[in-house]
Amino acid sequence: MGSLAINGGSPVRTAPFQKWPVWNEDEIKGLEEVIRSGKWGRIHGKKVEDFENHFAEYHDAKFGVCVNSGTTALQIALRAAGIGAGDEVILPGYTFIATATAALEAGAIPIMIDIDPETYNIDVKQIEANITPKTRGIMPVHFGGRPADMDAINAIARKHNLKVIEDAAQAWGSAWNGTKVGALGTAGCFSFQSSKNVNAGEGGIILTNDAETEKFARSFSNCGRLPNGVWYEHYYLGGNYRMTEFQGAVLQAQFARYPEMQATREKNANLLSQHLKEIEGVELLKDDPKITRNSRHLFIWRYKKEGFNNVPKAKFLDAMKAEGVFMSAGYSIPLYSQPLMKEKTFGPAGKVVDIPIDFANMNLPETERACYDEAVWIVQSPLLGTEQDMMDMIKAIKKVQEHSSELK
Ligand SMILES: Cc1ncc(COP(=O)(O)O)c(C=O)c1O
Repeated sequence: MGSLAINGGSPVRTAPFQKWPVWNEDEIKGLEEVIRSGKWGRIHGKKVEDFENHFAEYHDAKFGVCVNSGTTALQIALRAAGIGAGDEVILPGYTFIATATAALEAGAIPIMIDIDPETYNIDVKQIEANITPKTRGIMPVHFGGRPADMDAINAIARKHNLKVIEDAAQAWGSAWNGTKVGALGTAGCFSFQSSKNVNAGEGGIILTNDAETEKFARSFSNCGRLPNGVWYEHYYLGGNYRMTEFQGAVLQAQFARYPEMQATREKNANLLSQHLKEIEGVELLKDDPKITRNSRHLFIWRYKKEGFNNVPKAKFLDAMKAEGVFMSAGYSIPLYSQPLMKEKTFGPAGKVVDIPIDFANMNLPETERACYDEAVWIVQSPLLGTEQDMMDMIKAIKKVQEHSSELK
């Protein structure tokens, strides 16, 4: 028997961390109101509309259009901003699949570039070299809630006349230089899927300050209708991507307690940083004074195996789990190495559509390092816990490090 729990030793902790979702009577009351009102869809009720206005205002944006998911939001935002067939959009290789598939669904070509290992966001130094006459947009991802360098991105976009669609799926309330994300570029998209800090089971919203983009986003999400048109009058190619009033009610309750929860996540993230930076083999992302708020959807740190007796990340995480502390390896496959991309099965019934990008032979070194060797994610819900919870995480890392020879 070894000291590590994975080898039969006693674990650092057996108590669970904070569970997700967090809810109370407010969600139930809101849902009950919707049921009793008989106004279950967005077109009859006011819950979604009120939430749109509140969420937009909170994010320093003029307009908000709720839809049924973050993925849908991205696809609609791209189309609403005028991006379509054959256009190229530049995005990071380290992100959720939806950033790229939204572009493909809009008919555009995703051009994946590497991330900056110190931020895990798109490496802005590589954007201009990837601009071609076909480039129409940039899709920065505010990864884990950390805003991308919007000053640099907007400057490049202005110079080359490009649209900027922020993938803010993980970044509710995050702020860059004092302004919330979402409407820093042409439009921004958020997710309310079940793992997210603001959760309605599913859902998304598009924010923008641009009236034209808002007009098309609203129309595309509502079967191509226009606000003053009659019900069976359709102007543009849209679909039914509307949010239900049930989701609107849950979102109102979730978002009302968001600022307070956010403060807890921030406090715990700071505590973790303070202790983690003292541990050899643990590297934190770089501080940036321009990041004035971070949603802390993911607390990301980089695992350097040299500090852990050269134990690979996967083995380290297994040992941590046995100690009662789950940390995620994050995306295990770069975007371009997904079967969908390598095989280009973009067509009907999985048919190959041969777009002119050789995804199969791409290699973005920092993206690969993050996927295979270094990225460790602490997901948002444990960050709602106590100081003791944070200290248990630190204790588990130190214990696994101290006994890492047991993992050889
Ligand atoms: C970075 C990123 N983009 C897009 C999405 C898509 O959001 P949804 O799951 O609501 O479609 C997600 C969420 O999973 C995400 O994390």
